[in-house]
Amino acid sequence: QVIQHITDLRQSIRSRRAEQPSLRVGFVPTMGFLHEGHASLLEAARRSCDIVVLSIFVNPLQFGPNEDFERYPRDEERDLAVAEQAGTDIVFLPQVAEMYPQPIKTMVSVREVTTRLCGASRPGHFDGVATVVAKLFHIVQPDAAFFGMKDAQQVAVIEQMVLDLNLPVEIVPCPTIREADGLAKSSRNVYLNEEERKQATVLSAALREAETALAESGVGLTPQQLIENVRTHIRRSPLAEIDYAEVLAFPSLEPLESFTQGERIIVALAVKFGKTRLIDNCIVRIP
Ligand code: PAJ
Repeated sequence: QVIQHITDLRQSIRSRRAEQPSLRVGFVPTMGFLHEGHASLLEAARRSCDIVVLSIFVNPLQFGPNEDFERYPRDEERDLAVAEQAGTDIVFLPQVAEMYPQPIKTMVSVREVTTRLCGASRPGHFDGVATVVAKLFHIVQPDAAFFGMKDAQQVAVIEQMVLDLNLPVEIVPCPTIREADGLAKSSRNVYLNEEERKQATVLSAALREAETALAESGVGLTPQQLIENVRTHIRRSPLAEIDYAEVLAFPSLEPLESFTQGERIIVALAVKFGKTRLIDNCIVRIP
């Protein structure tokens, strides 16, 4: 079932809930141009929920003025085929005017977890994300919502919002799906030319090296040393331009002076190839 209007979506879910009061509604918000990463979220929802709702909406509110909102890749027909294949029951496909009939005056802004990483590189981005996700949660009213750890900071932001605003939805983080050579799947990978695509494996390769170094040296390594190794690794790819490379505590995303045994940390990267900005991360428990 493909639905464009908020009233129709509410009606559809309301009537399904009336038939089956115990209905567990799973929700996967996306911006479309679906790939196996998105499909894995739909499949996780399919496994643990009675109905699966997918939203496809390229949210203008989370793009900066010089970002790729206009040229963000779109392919509705293929998306619907991927959605069907993954066992989606309802696809919510609103127009911009449906979500933002007039300029928005209320925004959700999550503090602290948004100050670093993509929050620093893309001012206002997470306000746009938190606001649209809050709107979508109110429209769909899911029991559980599924997010990819590819966007780990986004998961931290949404979890904080859900906690702070008492939203009655369970957030389910799901693992990052990768290409065979390690590159994290992303709708933006289509922007890469052949040579950029080859060199783009440097993100996951640098992360794997960091994981190995942490497994071997643990607290014997400082966060500064670890990140310097990661940067050196990435600089070996001539087309790679580092936007950020950081090691932070996870999920607080606070900076670290040293590693402590048993704590969870994130190694987070944003690297530009030409105009294309790729992100990747890994989360490690310090041995
Ligand atoms: P989008 O980039 O389309 O991603 C939708 C969901 O798919 C996010 O939860 C993202 O983390 C997940 N995802 C993307 N690539 C993945 C991969 N390789 N493996 C696993 N999961 C992956 O994130 C957004 O859209 C938007 O910010 C949104 C939450 C929809 C709000 O507009």
